[in-house]
Amino acid sequence: MKKLIIANWKMNPKSLEEARSLITRTEHRMNQVADKVQVVVAAPFIYLPPLSHYCHMVKLGAQNMSWLTEGAITGEISAQQLKLFNVSHVILGHSERRLYLGETDSVVNAKIMTALKYKLTPIVCLGGEEDAKQNNMPKIVSRQFGAVTTNLSQKQLEKIIFVYEPVWAISTMEKSVPASSEHAKVMVAYLRKLLAKKIGIARAANMPILYGGTVNRSNVSQFSKHPEISGALVGAASLDSENFWEIIKEFYRESIHRS
Ligand code: PGA
Repeated sequence: MKKLIIANWKMNPKSLEEARSLITRTEHRMNQVADKVQVVVAAPFIYLPPLSHYCHMVKLGAQNMSWLTEGAITGEISAQQLKLFNVSHVILGHSERRLYLGETDSVVNAKIMTALKYKLTPIVCLGGEEDAKQNNMPKIVSRQFGAVTTNLSQKQLEKIIFVYEPVWAISTMEKSVPASSEHAKVMVAYLRKLLAKKIGIARAANMPILYGGTVNRSNVSQFSKHPEISGALVGAASLDSENFWEIIKEFYRESIHRS
């Protein structure tokens, strides 16, 4: 299984010129790592159409989409519209959407179903809750996992990329504390166990489960060294092409080392 590195640009960068430059710098280097690493860039909606012309090895992702497929919903973007611009992935249930925009587990569940129906790969974040503390993460993740996967078949579950991303570890949160790589490893393994209960151990073992929260060039080797962690969801560090490239390269090196 290839390692997966997903850039979550959030509401950045400030100009299309910067967005183009960021993505092309990664795109031009992808042939050095593409046999072991898949990179997805989740850009703001407005940059997706122009960026689609520059992405060949890098895949394009959205950071959200509507659970409805068409109609009168002001300000929303549909799965079908994303597909028009070669978008292949969509982040769903990010903690910032849960905390600031009131997104609930049942909305995330509906969005997952819609994404799958239109063959978009959902990148589903678990670990976001206002009062989340390190020692109650298993409870939170288990509850969120159960709720967002309600009524999904085994086949549907297998198409999802899950991310363990504790809200307190996100670099831009007030009083942010990066998770230790031990904690990340244990929680990713825990999530895999939850999945195994639904789809069986062998299938769960083949699913990508990522870690997110302040992954950068200085700490990436702490996370990449654990084979349980299939990659990273990267926010702030993905806005600096050199920082982002070091993260990609580190996961690549680790993959080569193990093969
Ligand atoms: P961060 O953000 O890497 O800046 O902590 C990750 C995310 O919120 O997805």
